[in-house]
Amino acid sequence: MLSVVVLISGGGSNLRALLDETQQPDFPATVTAVGADRDAPGLVHAEHHGIETFVVPFRTPREEWGDELLAELQRREPDLVILSGFMRLLPPRVVDALAPRMINTHPAYLPEFPGAHGIRDALAAGVGETGASVIVVDNGVDSGPVLAQERVSIEPDDTEETLHDRVKVVERRLLAEVVRGIADGTIDLSARQ
Ligand code: GRF
Repeated sequence: MLSVVVLISGGGSNLRALLDETQQPDFPATVTAVGADRDAPGLVHAEHHGIETFVVPFRTPREEWGDELLAELQRREPDLVILSGFMRLLPPRVVDALAPRMINTHPAYLPEFPGAHGIRDALAAGVGETGASVIVVDNGVDSGPVLAQERVSIEPDDTEETLHDRVKVVERRLLAEVVRGIADGTIDLSARQ
């Protein structure tokens, strides 16, 4: 059984979906803790599942914050760390300590539209489609090896909210598929560095 720690910053709708997946009897992973860089509303989803939560409030210098966050992660010895709506860049010491066993979901078809506003940027670009991606976290901004990605159409009347909601549905499915693949060995993270 793969042990997973999830990091969030916001509402945690993707975390909620993952927690629901872990309730499936055949799902090969369990979320052992959920952490955040602030008192994120999404922590309530972990609490509803009786899962331990922790908060390491962001502060500068970023490296000191990162070291504290890393200690919280390593103490739990997860097989995998998932960034799910985690809106902070992790310092290199954190990424290097955990790579490649740390993955992130992003609401775009990377390398298109990296960064904190993937949905807004896709809409602003006037393109007909964007996507969702699951990547290995590296020291860049959403630049790591792609583990899974899928196109999502942009409709003429889309708003940021309607598009993001549609993209998140795909993100959640891809994330569950990737976690299953990591757990059963069909995805070899060490080959993806
Ligand atoms: C997701 O689209 C994630 O990829 C992006 O922020 C969103 C988080 O949404 N980084 P939520 O907090 O899971 O609802």
